[in-house]
Amino acid sequence: MAAENAGFIPGYTFGEASVPRAPLSDQDFENLKATVLFTEEDERYLRMAGDVLADQIDDVLDLWYNFVGSHPHLLHYFTNRQGEPIAEYLSRVRVRFGQWILDTCQRPYDRAWLDYQYEIGLRHHRTKKNQIDGVDSVEHIPLRYLIAFIYPITATIRPFLAKKGHSEEKVEAMHQAWFKSVTMQVALWSIPYAKEGDW
Ligand code: HEM
Repeated sequence: MAAENAGFIPGYTFGEASVPRAPLSDQDFENLKATVLFTEEDERYLRMAGDVLADQIDDVLDLWYNFVGSHPHLLHYFTNRQGEPIAEYLSRVRVRFGQWILDTCQRPYDRAWLDYQYEIGLRHHRTKKNQIDGVDSVEHIPLRYLIAFIYPITATIRPFLAKKGHSEEKVEAMHQAWFKSVTMQVALWSIPYAKEGDW
């Protein structure tokens, strides 16, 4: 499924006018890419990763949701005020998470992409968490967990990248490109967490 062919996904607003502009210049964005050593070659390997992952999205999500579900301190951020998981919240976010895998691999890293990263950061932060799905859940996800999550989101993707018979070299290149992208995204998601002037 190409990102452009995505069906209607509740709460997924990529490219829409409601998405605020990320508060960084195009030059800041280029500098951030350069800082994680992200190049056009990485964009090419992400395209390859997208082809490899496209029919494995549900398996990846099963693994990540099992990971969150088996850690009460993480599942906590999907629970209501009584501490019970909100099934509809989990399932709505799951569909957007699946689309995010494809977007990470297939979308050009342009202004629309950048602005949606800012939006995703706001959705983890108290500024906007819960609003998109209209839920009464825990109000804010601490930044430390966003940063720490880079590791499982990166380590667990490798076996999926290796499943379609690519050489070890190509799997490694896809994996490195993924790692760079996720690191850069979490750096962008941290914008609302930083004090004015500190980001
Ligand atoms: C590398 C770190 C992480 C990645 C890649 C990630 C990815 C995503 C994505 C793609 C979405 C949906 C974005 C959209 O609305 O289009 C999302 C939403 C969400 N994530 Fe994360 N996430 C990360 C860290 C975490 C952590 C540590 C938690 C805590 C358990 C968490 C809990 C949530 C919740 C509750 C939502 C829904 C937010 C809302 O109310 O809109 N995420 N995440």
